[in-house]
Amino acid sequence: MDGARTIIEPFRIHAVEPIRISTRQEREAAIEAAGWNLFNLHADDVLIDLLTDSGTGAMSRDQWAAIQRGDESYAGSPSWFEFLGSVQALWPLKHVIPTHQGRAAEKILFSVVGGPGKAIPNNTHFDTTRANIEYTGAEAIDLVIAEGKDPAALHPFKGNMDVPALERLLAERRADVPVVFVTITNNSGGGQPVSLANLHAVREVCDRFDVPLFFDACRFAENAWFIKVREPGQAHRSITEIVREIASLADGMTMSAKKDGLANIGGWLAVNDDRLAEQCRNLLILTEGFPTYGGLAGRDLEAIAQGLREVVNEDYLRYRIRSTAYLGDALDAAGVPLVKPFGGHAIYLDARRLLPHISPLEYPGQALAVALYVEGGIRGCEIGTVMFGRHPDGSESPASMDLVRLAIPRRTYTQSHIDYAIEVVQVVAARSDELRGFRIVDEPPALRHFTARFEPLASGLRDGVATRN
Ligand code: F0G
Repeated sequence: MDGARTIIEPFRIHAVEPIRISTRQEREAAIEAAGWNLFNLHADDVLIDLLTDSGTGAMSRDQWAAIQRGDESYAGSPSWFEFLGSVQALWPLKHVIPTHQGRAAEKILFSVVGGPGKAIPNNTHFDTTRANIEYTGAEAIDLVIAEGKDPAALHPFKGNMDVPALERLLAERRADVPVVFVTITNNSGGGQPVSLANLHAVREVCDRFDVPLFFDACRFAENAWFIKVREPGQAHRSITEIVREIASLADGMTMSAKKDGLANIGGWLAVNDDRLAEQCRNLLILTEGFPTYGGLAGRDLEAIAQGLREVVNEDYLRYRIRSTAYLGDALDAAGVPLVKPFGGHAIYLDARRLLPHISPLEYPGQALAVALYVEGGIRGCEIGTVMFGRHPDGSESPASMDLVRLAIPRRTYTQSHIDYAIEVVQVVAARSDELRGFRIVDEPPALRHFTARFEPLASGLRDGVATRN
């Protein structure tokens, strides 16, 4: 029906995976055994898994068919050429270097361009990007606009780079900056898009200071959709056209195909510079594999090639962005504090605002994430002081925000799954004053959120949310 208000999933379901329905008692035992870290759970103990949108999406019929065409030749596989053609149709960069996922591309690039004394600006570095930079001894600098740090500030492109701040950094430290990055969409800042105008402004500054511009392009299609619907003068353009314009501004990119590649694994590093490409390929051979497969099977390259053709489809993107906003709209109407406007791949709950009685160093995001799991088996992800609070010098301080991300896997959950999640969040929010913070009892030196073990502070959690029936 033309003009209908309901935006439907532009697909029907072809294969199903069972969800095991668990009890609150089982979830209490599971989370305690996991050291109150949601990453340590057995996924069978999760009802609706909103931990990440990375590699968790459903592939299409045509992707599964493409997998059957996967050619596993060690060198020069036809699947490699299929992949290369599909990448370059959107991102016509000269050298495309396949990796097993995004962080492998980061590791290789920063091993070449990073090192002590170097500084790499970004709107906001994702955690693996930051960690890979800091691992080389370089500094990762976040320069997102002020609105991007305020969960409640309404701005259509909250992922934008603070261009004057970038200019100041380059005026002072040009020699230390090997590359400028922009992350589209800005995941750590709430899945917020960057405008085409901002990308052009960043390019102009990079040109003036003669420094290369790279994109962390994990969610480029979602970013392009936001440009199409929010940026003046863009509504008539196709997603492919917008992506190609973004690509024309890039000297290079890192990519995780687990997001807008619509694949379960894969990524790439692409650069225009011949010498940089050669240095990166030499490292690729050490750690990933030969340059025509780079840590992926031929079948994976095929799945990504087809995924890239599907991800720029407007019916898909309209549904994708609308279904994320559906979750956000319902929680917003219920008065749950959220990052707004809603990002493309996730809704971010503002745990610091919901739980003012839990100080940031007692991890309000962790408290909320655990409560959502215990209450309804929803697995979200803390993006806050647990993830960003520990610094390379060993000190700890509150992150700029304490959020819980409910990330939506692509093409995976239906509206009733999301309705259930909405109900669970509302129940927990209504009893937020009963939640208590956590302390960390064990943590690794970097990326602690993946493996840290926690202990609930006082007895609030068990006496309150967790044991209520
Ligand atoms: N950059 C951004 C913006 C990301 O969101 C991610 C991954 C990466 C780089 C690294 O890619 O996982 O393929 O190595 N984000 C996932 C997430 C893990 O849950 O947001 P990867």
